[in-house]
Amino acid sequence: MLLELRNLSVSYGKAVALENISLRVAEGEFVAVLGPNGAGKSTLLKAISRSQASTGTLEFRGESLQGVPAHAVVGKGICHCPEGRRLFPELTVLKNLMLGAYLRRDAAVATHLKLVYSLFPILEERAPQIVSTLSGGQQQMVAIGRALMGKPSLLLLDEPSVGIAHRLKIEIFDAIKRIQQGGCAILMAEQDAQSALRIADRVYVLEHGHVGREGTSAELGADDYIRQAYLGVG
Ligand SMILES: Nc1ncnc2c1ncn2[C@@H]1O[C@H](COP(=O)(O)OP(=O)(O)OP(=O)(O)O)[C@@H](O)[C@H]1O
Ligand SMILES: [Mg+2]
Repeated sequence: MLLELRNLSVSYGKAVALENISLRVAEGEFVAVLGPNGAGKSTLLKAISRSQASTGTLEFRGESLQGVPAHAVVGKGICHCPEGRRLFPELTVLKNLMLGAYLRRDAAVATHLKLVYSLFPILEERAPQIVSTLSGGQQQMVAIGRALMGKPSLLLLDEPSVGIAHRLKIEIFDAIKRIQQGGCAILMAEQDAQSALRIADRVYVLEHGHVGREGTSAELGADDYIRQAYLGVG
């Protein structure tokens, strides 16, 4: 198993944000995490990238990540594209992308930059442009591109479509699907359940820090509760 969580819990002081989460992502798999505001989606991704402390089992390729400092997680092959993008708005597109490769010295950095540009051609055109002058959708492309520059085998995406115009949203989801087709596993938190069920292989539904339901996208797409609560139909 690429990623395995067993009984993973996170508390903020006395407030329990995640309680005994068990979740798996196989090599190359696309897994989505659905759930309402405050369900714990971002906390889950932060726990995996070690930017938030957790208790319980957190294994990557069979090795525990508990005890691995956040800065060393990228080197293991896990890259986190965080909620709200966290870009450097006054730096250029190219500088922001290259920051994602700061741990790498290999010659493949140039190859990876080409890969990012092939996924998001607009970023090559805008390479010298200051990030704050880009649209929200284009900034999201930079954030995903920067995470890809870390050469992940597991990409953590936190609500990549939030606040983005419909046309760019489709473009971004298509690019994410192509990232998976290139062999990278994806764990994506998302509130757009319809899009998530369309492109993910499997889905976990997080509610109040617990896994409410899980299954293949086909299973959950046919589930009455999911249809009513998340798809607004049935
Ligand atoms: N740094 C923090 N300190 C204290 N409580 C926090 C902190 N971050 C998150 N929480 C709380 O933990 C719970 C889970 O938050 P989290 O941000 O993980 O949810 P989420 O599913 O990502 O929500 P959203 O869809 O709004 O992004 C919420 O009750 C939230 O208020
Ligand atoms: Mg969140």
